[in-house]
Amino acid sequence: MKFGLILAAGRGERFGAPKQKSILGGHPMALWSILAFEQSPAVDIIVMVADEDSVEFFERQIRERNIDKVEAVVPGGAERINSLLAGLKVLPEQGFVAVHDAARPFVRADEVTAGFKMVTTKGSAIYALPVTDTIKCVKKNLIVQTVPRNGLYRAQTPQFFPLPILHQALHKAADDGFTGTDEASYVERLEEKIHILPGREENIKITFPQDIELAENLIASGACP
Ligand code: C5P
Repeated sequence: MKFGLILAAGRGERFGAPKQKSILGGHPMALWSILAFEQSPAVDIIVMVADEDSVEFFERQIRERNIDKVEAVVPGGAERINSLLAGLKVLPEQGFVAVHDAARPFVRADEVTAGFKMVTTKGSAIYALPVTDTIKCVKKNLIVQTVPRNGLYRAQTPQFFPLPILHQALHKAADDGFTGTDEASYVERLEEKIHILPGREENIKITFPQDIELAENLIASGACP
């Protein structure tokens, strides 16, 4: 079985409000990701993680759009790791999962399908893009050094894993007291191979209120689904 795990909880502190409900192109932002996973023929079941007080809101949105792969909307936690664990708790030990941030509304169904093809044939995989900016290490507002960017990538989501491996990685992280910022950072600690799938600049992460304007412009330009 292949599962989509959509993380859509959190207070949106940098955004100033729970961004997952803000309207983008006529839909609450988190619905864009749900629709991409619904449309991918590779996905069997979707589990969504939302804030406790948004669970009913999203259940209603999903019913109204006749989305039928969403099996559960579960309440998340204070930090992303808590939401990830809340979602994983309702997934089985076997099968494959794509973990995706609902803050990236422009993921495409064909990217979800391609990711599952990769994870089921070659193993764990994430979408990422090579760094093109010059990267500086800065302390107290002064440059310490320039970090060679050769081989540096920006991780995006979705990220694809065999479920036994992701479960094992999170157990190990709990034992070691380690918290990562994406799923791959947990799986890397098992020394598992993780393949890179070609990310897309348009698969932006909505972090600040001004990102909504950028996102609306991407929709208007036809660059996004
Ligand atoms: O806050 P940030 O933009 O880094 O969040 C990345 C993703 O993780 C978002 O899709 C957000 O909904 C999710 N998240 C979550 N639970 C939290 C914090 C963030 O599901 N407590």
